[in-house]
Amino acid sequence: MEVIIRPDADSAAMLVARLVAARVRAKPDLVLGLATGRTMERVYDLLAAMGLDFSGCRSFNLDEYIGVPTEDEHSYRHYMDKHLFGRVNIKRSNTHVPDGMAPDLGAEAARYERLIREAEGIDLQLLGIGEDGHIGFNEPLSALMSRTRAKALTATTRQQNAAMFGGDADRVPARALTMGVGTILEARELLLLATGMAKAASLAKAVEGPITAMVSASALQLHPRCKVVLDRDAASALTQRDYYDWVFDNEPEWEGYRE
Ligand code: F6R
Repeated sequence: MEVIIRPDADSAAMLVARLVAARVRAKPDLVLGLATGRTMERVYDLLAAMGLDFSGCRSFNLDEYIGVPTEDEHSYRHYMDKHLFGRVNIKRSNTHVPDGMAPDLGAEAARYERLIREAEGIDLQLLGIGEDGHIGFNEPLSALMSRTRAKALTATTRQQNAAMFGGDADRVPARALTMGVGTILEARELLLLATGMAKAASLAKAVEGPITAMVSASALQLHPRCKVVLDRDAASALTQRDYYDWVFDNEPEWEGYRE
């Protein structure tokens, strides 16, 4: 795992957008794993402004609320159309979001896993982190080998996402379909972005704590190609910041990304 700390949220999002852009340019048929949430909005703004060619790319989103129709402004399909798909030249038929309205959620989860396999897996998976340490909607005690399935959301997550539902956590759906931790770990590269003080505690547990199903994001420590990009606030509870900064300032891989 590599941890990169940028001075503020905007430069952290810019670094993530530049890394995604580099992968899309290097592999025009890239299979992208995508995340929603407030942290990613800036990344998608930046990607949309870059004029990249997404016409050969395919995408798989991490999750979708259960029981929220696609056309509802709270659905993650709607979020993706608004923040990214509607602003770049990706083919709609190449974009995939789990169907949270499927009558048989188990069958939909199996179909989603099959689609990812048929695409020969995800090249680059974008991730945010929840205040309870989730990735996707893998809430505490999600098995580290879990696959796409329905998951009940914690009170912490529903509170975290309440702002999108008029500030009322009770209006946040109680369940979601989410890729499992095991599904996420199979992506060939992982890129997590976290910004703001609200993420500092869960982020420190994920990066410097023990690997535990209580903090799904700690499973990222198992992945051989995982980058974690933070602003100073999200990094504030880490103990090894000087080392992470030294690596970013000195390792040749980061030349061209430092300014
Ligand atoms: C969203 C997702 C979640 C979010 C996380 C952070 O598709 O899978 O894990 O990435 O909850 O959300 P924000 O960015 O809104 O703080």
